Amino acid sequence: MHHFAYRDGVLHAEGVSLARIAEEVGTPTYVYSTATALRHYRVFRDAFLPTKPAIFYAMKAGGNLSILRTLGNEGAGADVVSEGEVRKALAAGIPPERIVFSGVGKSEEELTFAVAQAVHQINVETPHELGVIDRVARTLGRRQDIVFRVNPAIGAGGHAKITTGSEDNKFGVSMSEISGLYAQAETLKGVRALGLACHIGSQIHELGELEEAFQRLATLVRALRADGRIVTRLDLGGGLGIHYEDDLATVDKPDRVKAYADMVLRVTRGLDVEIAFEPGRLIIGNAGVLLSRVVTHNPRPQKDIVVIDAGMNDLIRPAMYDSFHALRPVKEPMAGTPYAAVDVVGPICESSDTFASDRPMPALAVGDLVAFMTAGAYGASMSSNYNQRRLVAEVLVDGDRYAVIRPRQTWDELIGQDRMAPWLTNA
Ligand code: LLP
Repeated sequence: MHHFAYRDGVLHAEGVSLARIAEEVGTPTYVYSTATALRHYRVFRDAFLPTKPAIFYAMKAGGNLSILRTLGNEGAGADVVSEGEVRKALAAGIPPERIVFSGVGKSEEELTFAVAQAVHQINVETPHELGVIDRVARTLGRRQDIVFRVNPAIGAGGHAKITTGSEDNKFGVSMSEISGLYAQAETLKGVRALGLACHIGSQIHELGELEEAFQRLATLVRALRADGRIVTRLDLGGGLGIHYEDDLATVDKPDRVKAYADMVLRVTRGLDVEIAFEPGRLIIGNAGVLLSRVVTHNPRPQKDIVVIDAGMNDLIRPAMYDSFHALRPVKEPMAGTPYAAVDVVGPICESSDTFASDRPMPALAVGDLVAFMTAGAYGASMSSNYNQRRLVAEVLVDGDRYAVIRPRQTWDELIGQDRMAPWLTNA
């Protein structure tokens, strides 16, 4: 379920026409629906009632201040993975007590900043990091709440590049090391070990591997308690996968989220721990589209190539993970319009800058608008200036109103990022 639909022959985000946004803001532009993001957040939250888990939105999926505040106003916290994300979450008004800092290689500088802010929790990934947090916290006269990120030796996910829980992935502390590290943490004055975390991958549809991983976590909790350790928190990582093919997020089928919730509640029953999640994609994935315009055509004898003004620097998922995004013309095709297979590509000088191959589409003329559906997660947040292209604009729609929540970068901003080495300037 989402709030992008044709009205009077034009694709709208809630009550606002995408053609109007393209006219007024230009293209390429990411457009988000407030109603969709809030709806998904609420479906996820409510599936776990009456347990009331803490939900920390994984802002790596989409970290615009306005999106963070929209979710923050609803009670969401933020799962962050860098100092930049801590700073942005705070700037959006998410208080430190609703920030969880995860990440595989947090620098001392980043940890110092996070501890000084008194964030809710730091998810520790290595023995060395434990020592750094302890030292930094003692220097600051604080005691930092931590959990250990466990590598449960079970990986899952929609693509090898987004699987994180298997033994050969770089993430987390091995199951066999947890007990020793936990015991060590209890001797340290700068930290308070409160529990465990795990995240085995992203874009997961099947519950089997998640259940197995959570079972292992539950077993660890019991073993730690048997050793006299205090365990009060379990952070169960990201959300479920979503459907890119049919534009329907998993949360469309509240049953799936309910099944997930039931499984989690079953596995954690009797453990008496606070449960937390860090969903990203599930919340913002199909709450965003990337709006783009056809630049030119290359009618080759073998295939018709449609070149649009968005590139892999704006939406890297197809190039990086071979991922599929449904593509809709902004002008609604009339009933009976013929569809023909085309390649839809960007303007970047790489063959991987291909969004769709042999995709059946109605005829697209130069200047026509298209929208990549389900582009809200890991879209704008993974964009770059490659080919010296400006970061694109972001727009948030709420009912009949919209706002530019990130203006398109200016040429001066693009060029002004660099500095001329002094010996190259003509004194
Ligand atoms: N927590 C941790 C520790 C994570 O590493 C991630 C995602 C999440 C939560 C959020 O997972 P989600 O709910 O979004 O599945 N760029 C890739 C996805 C990378 C995911 C990285 N970690 C993509 O575009 O598919």
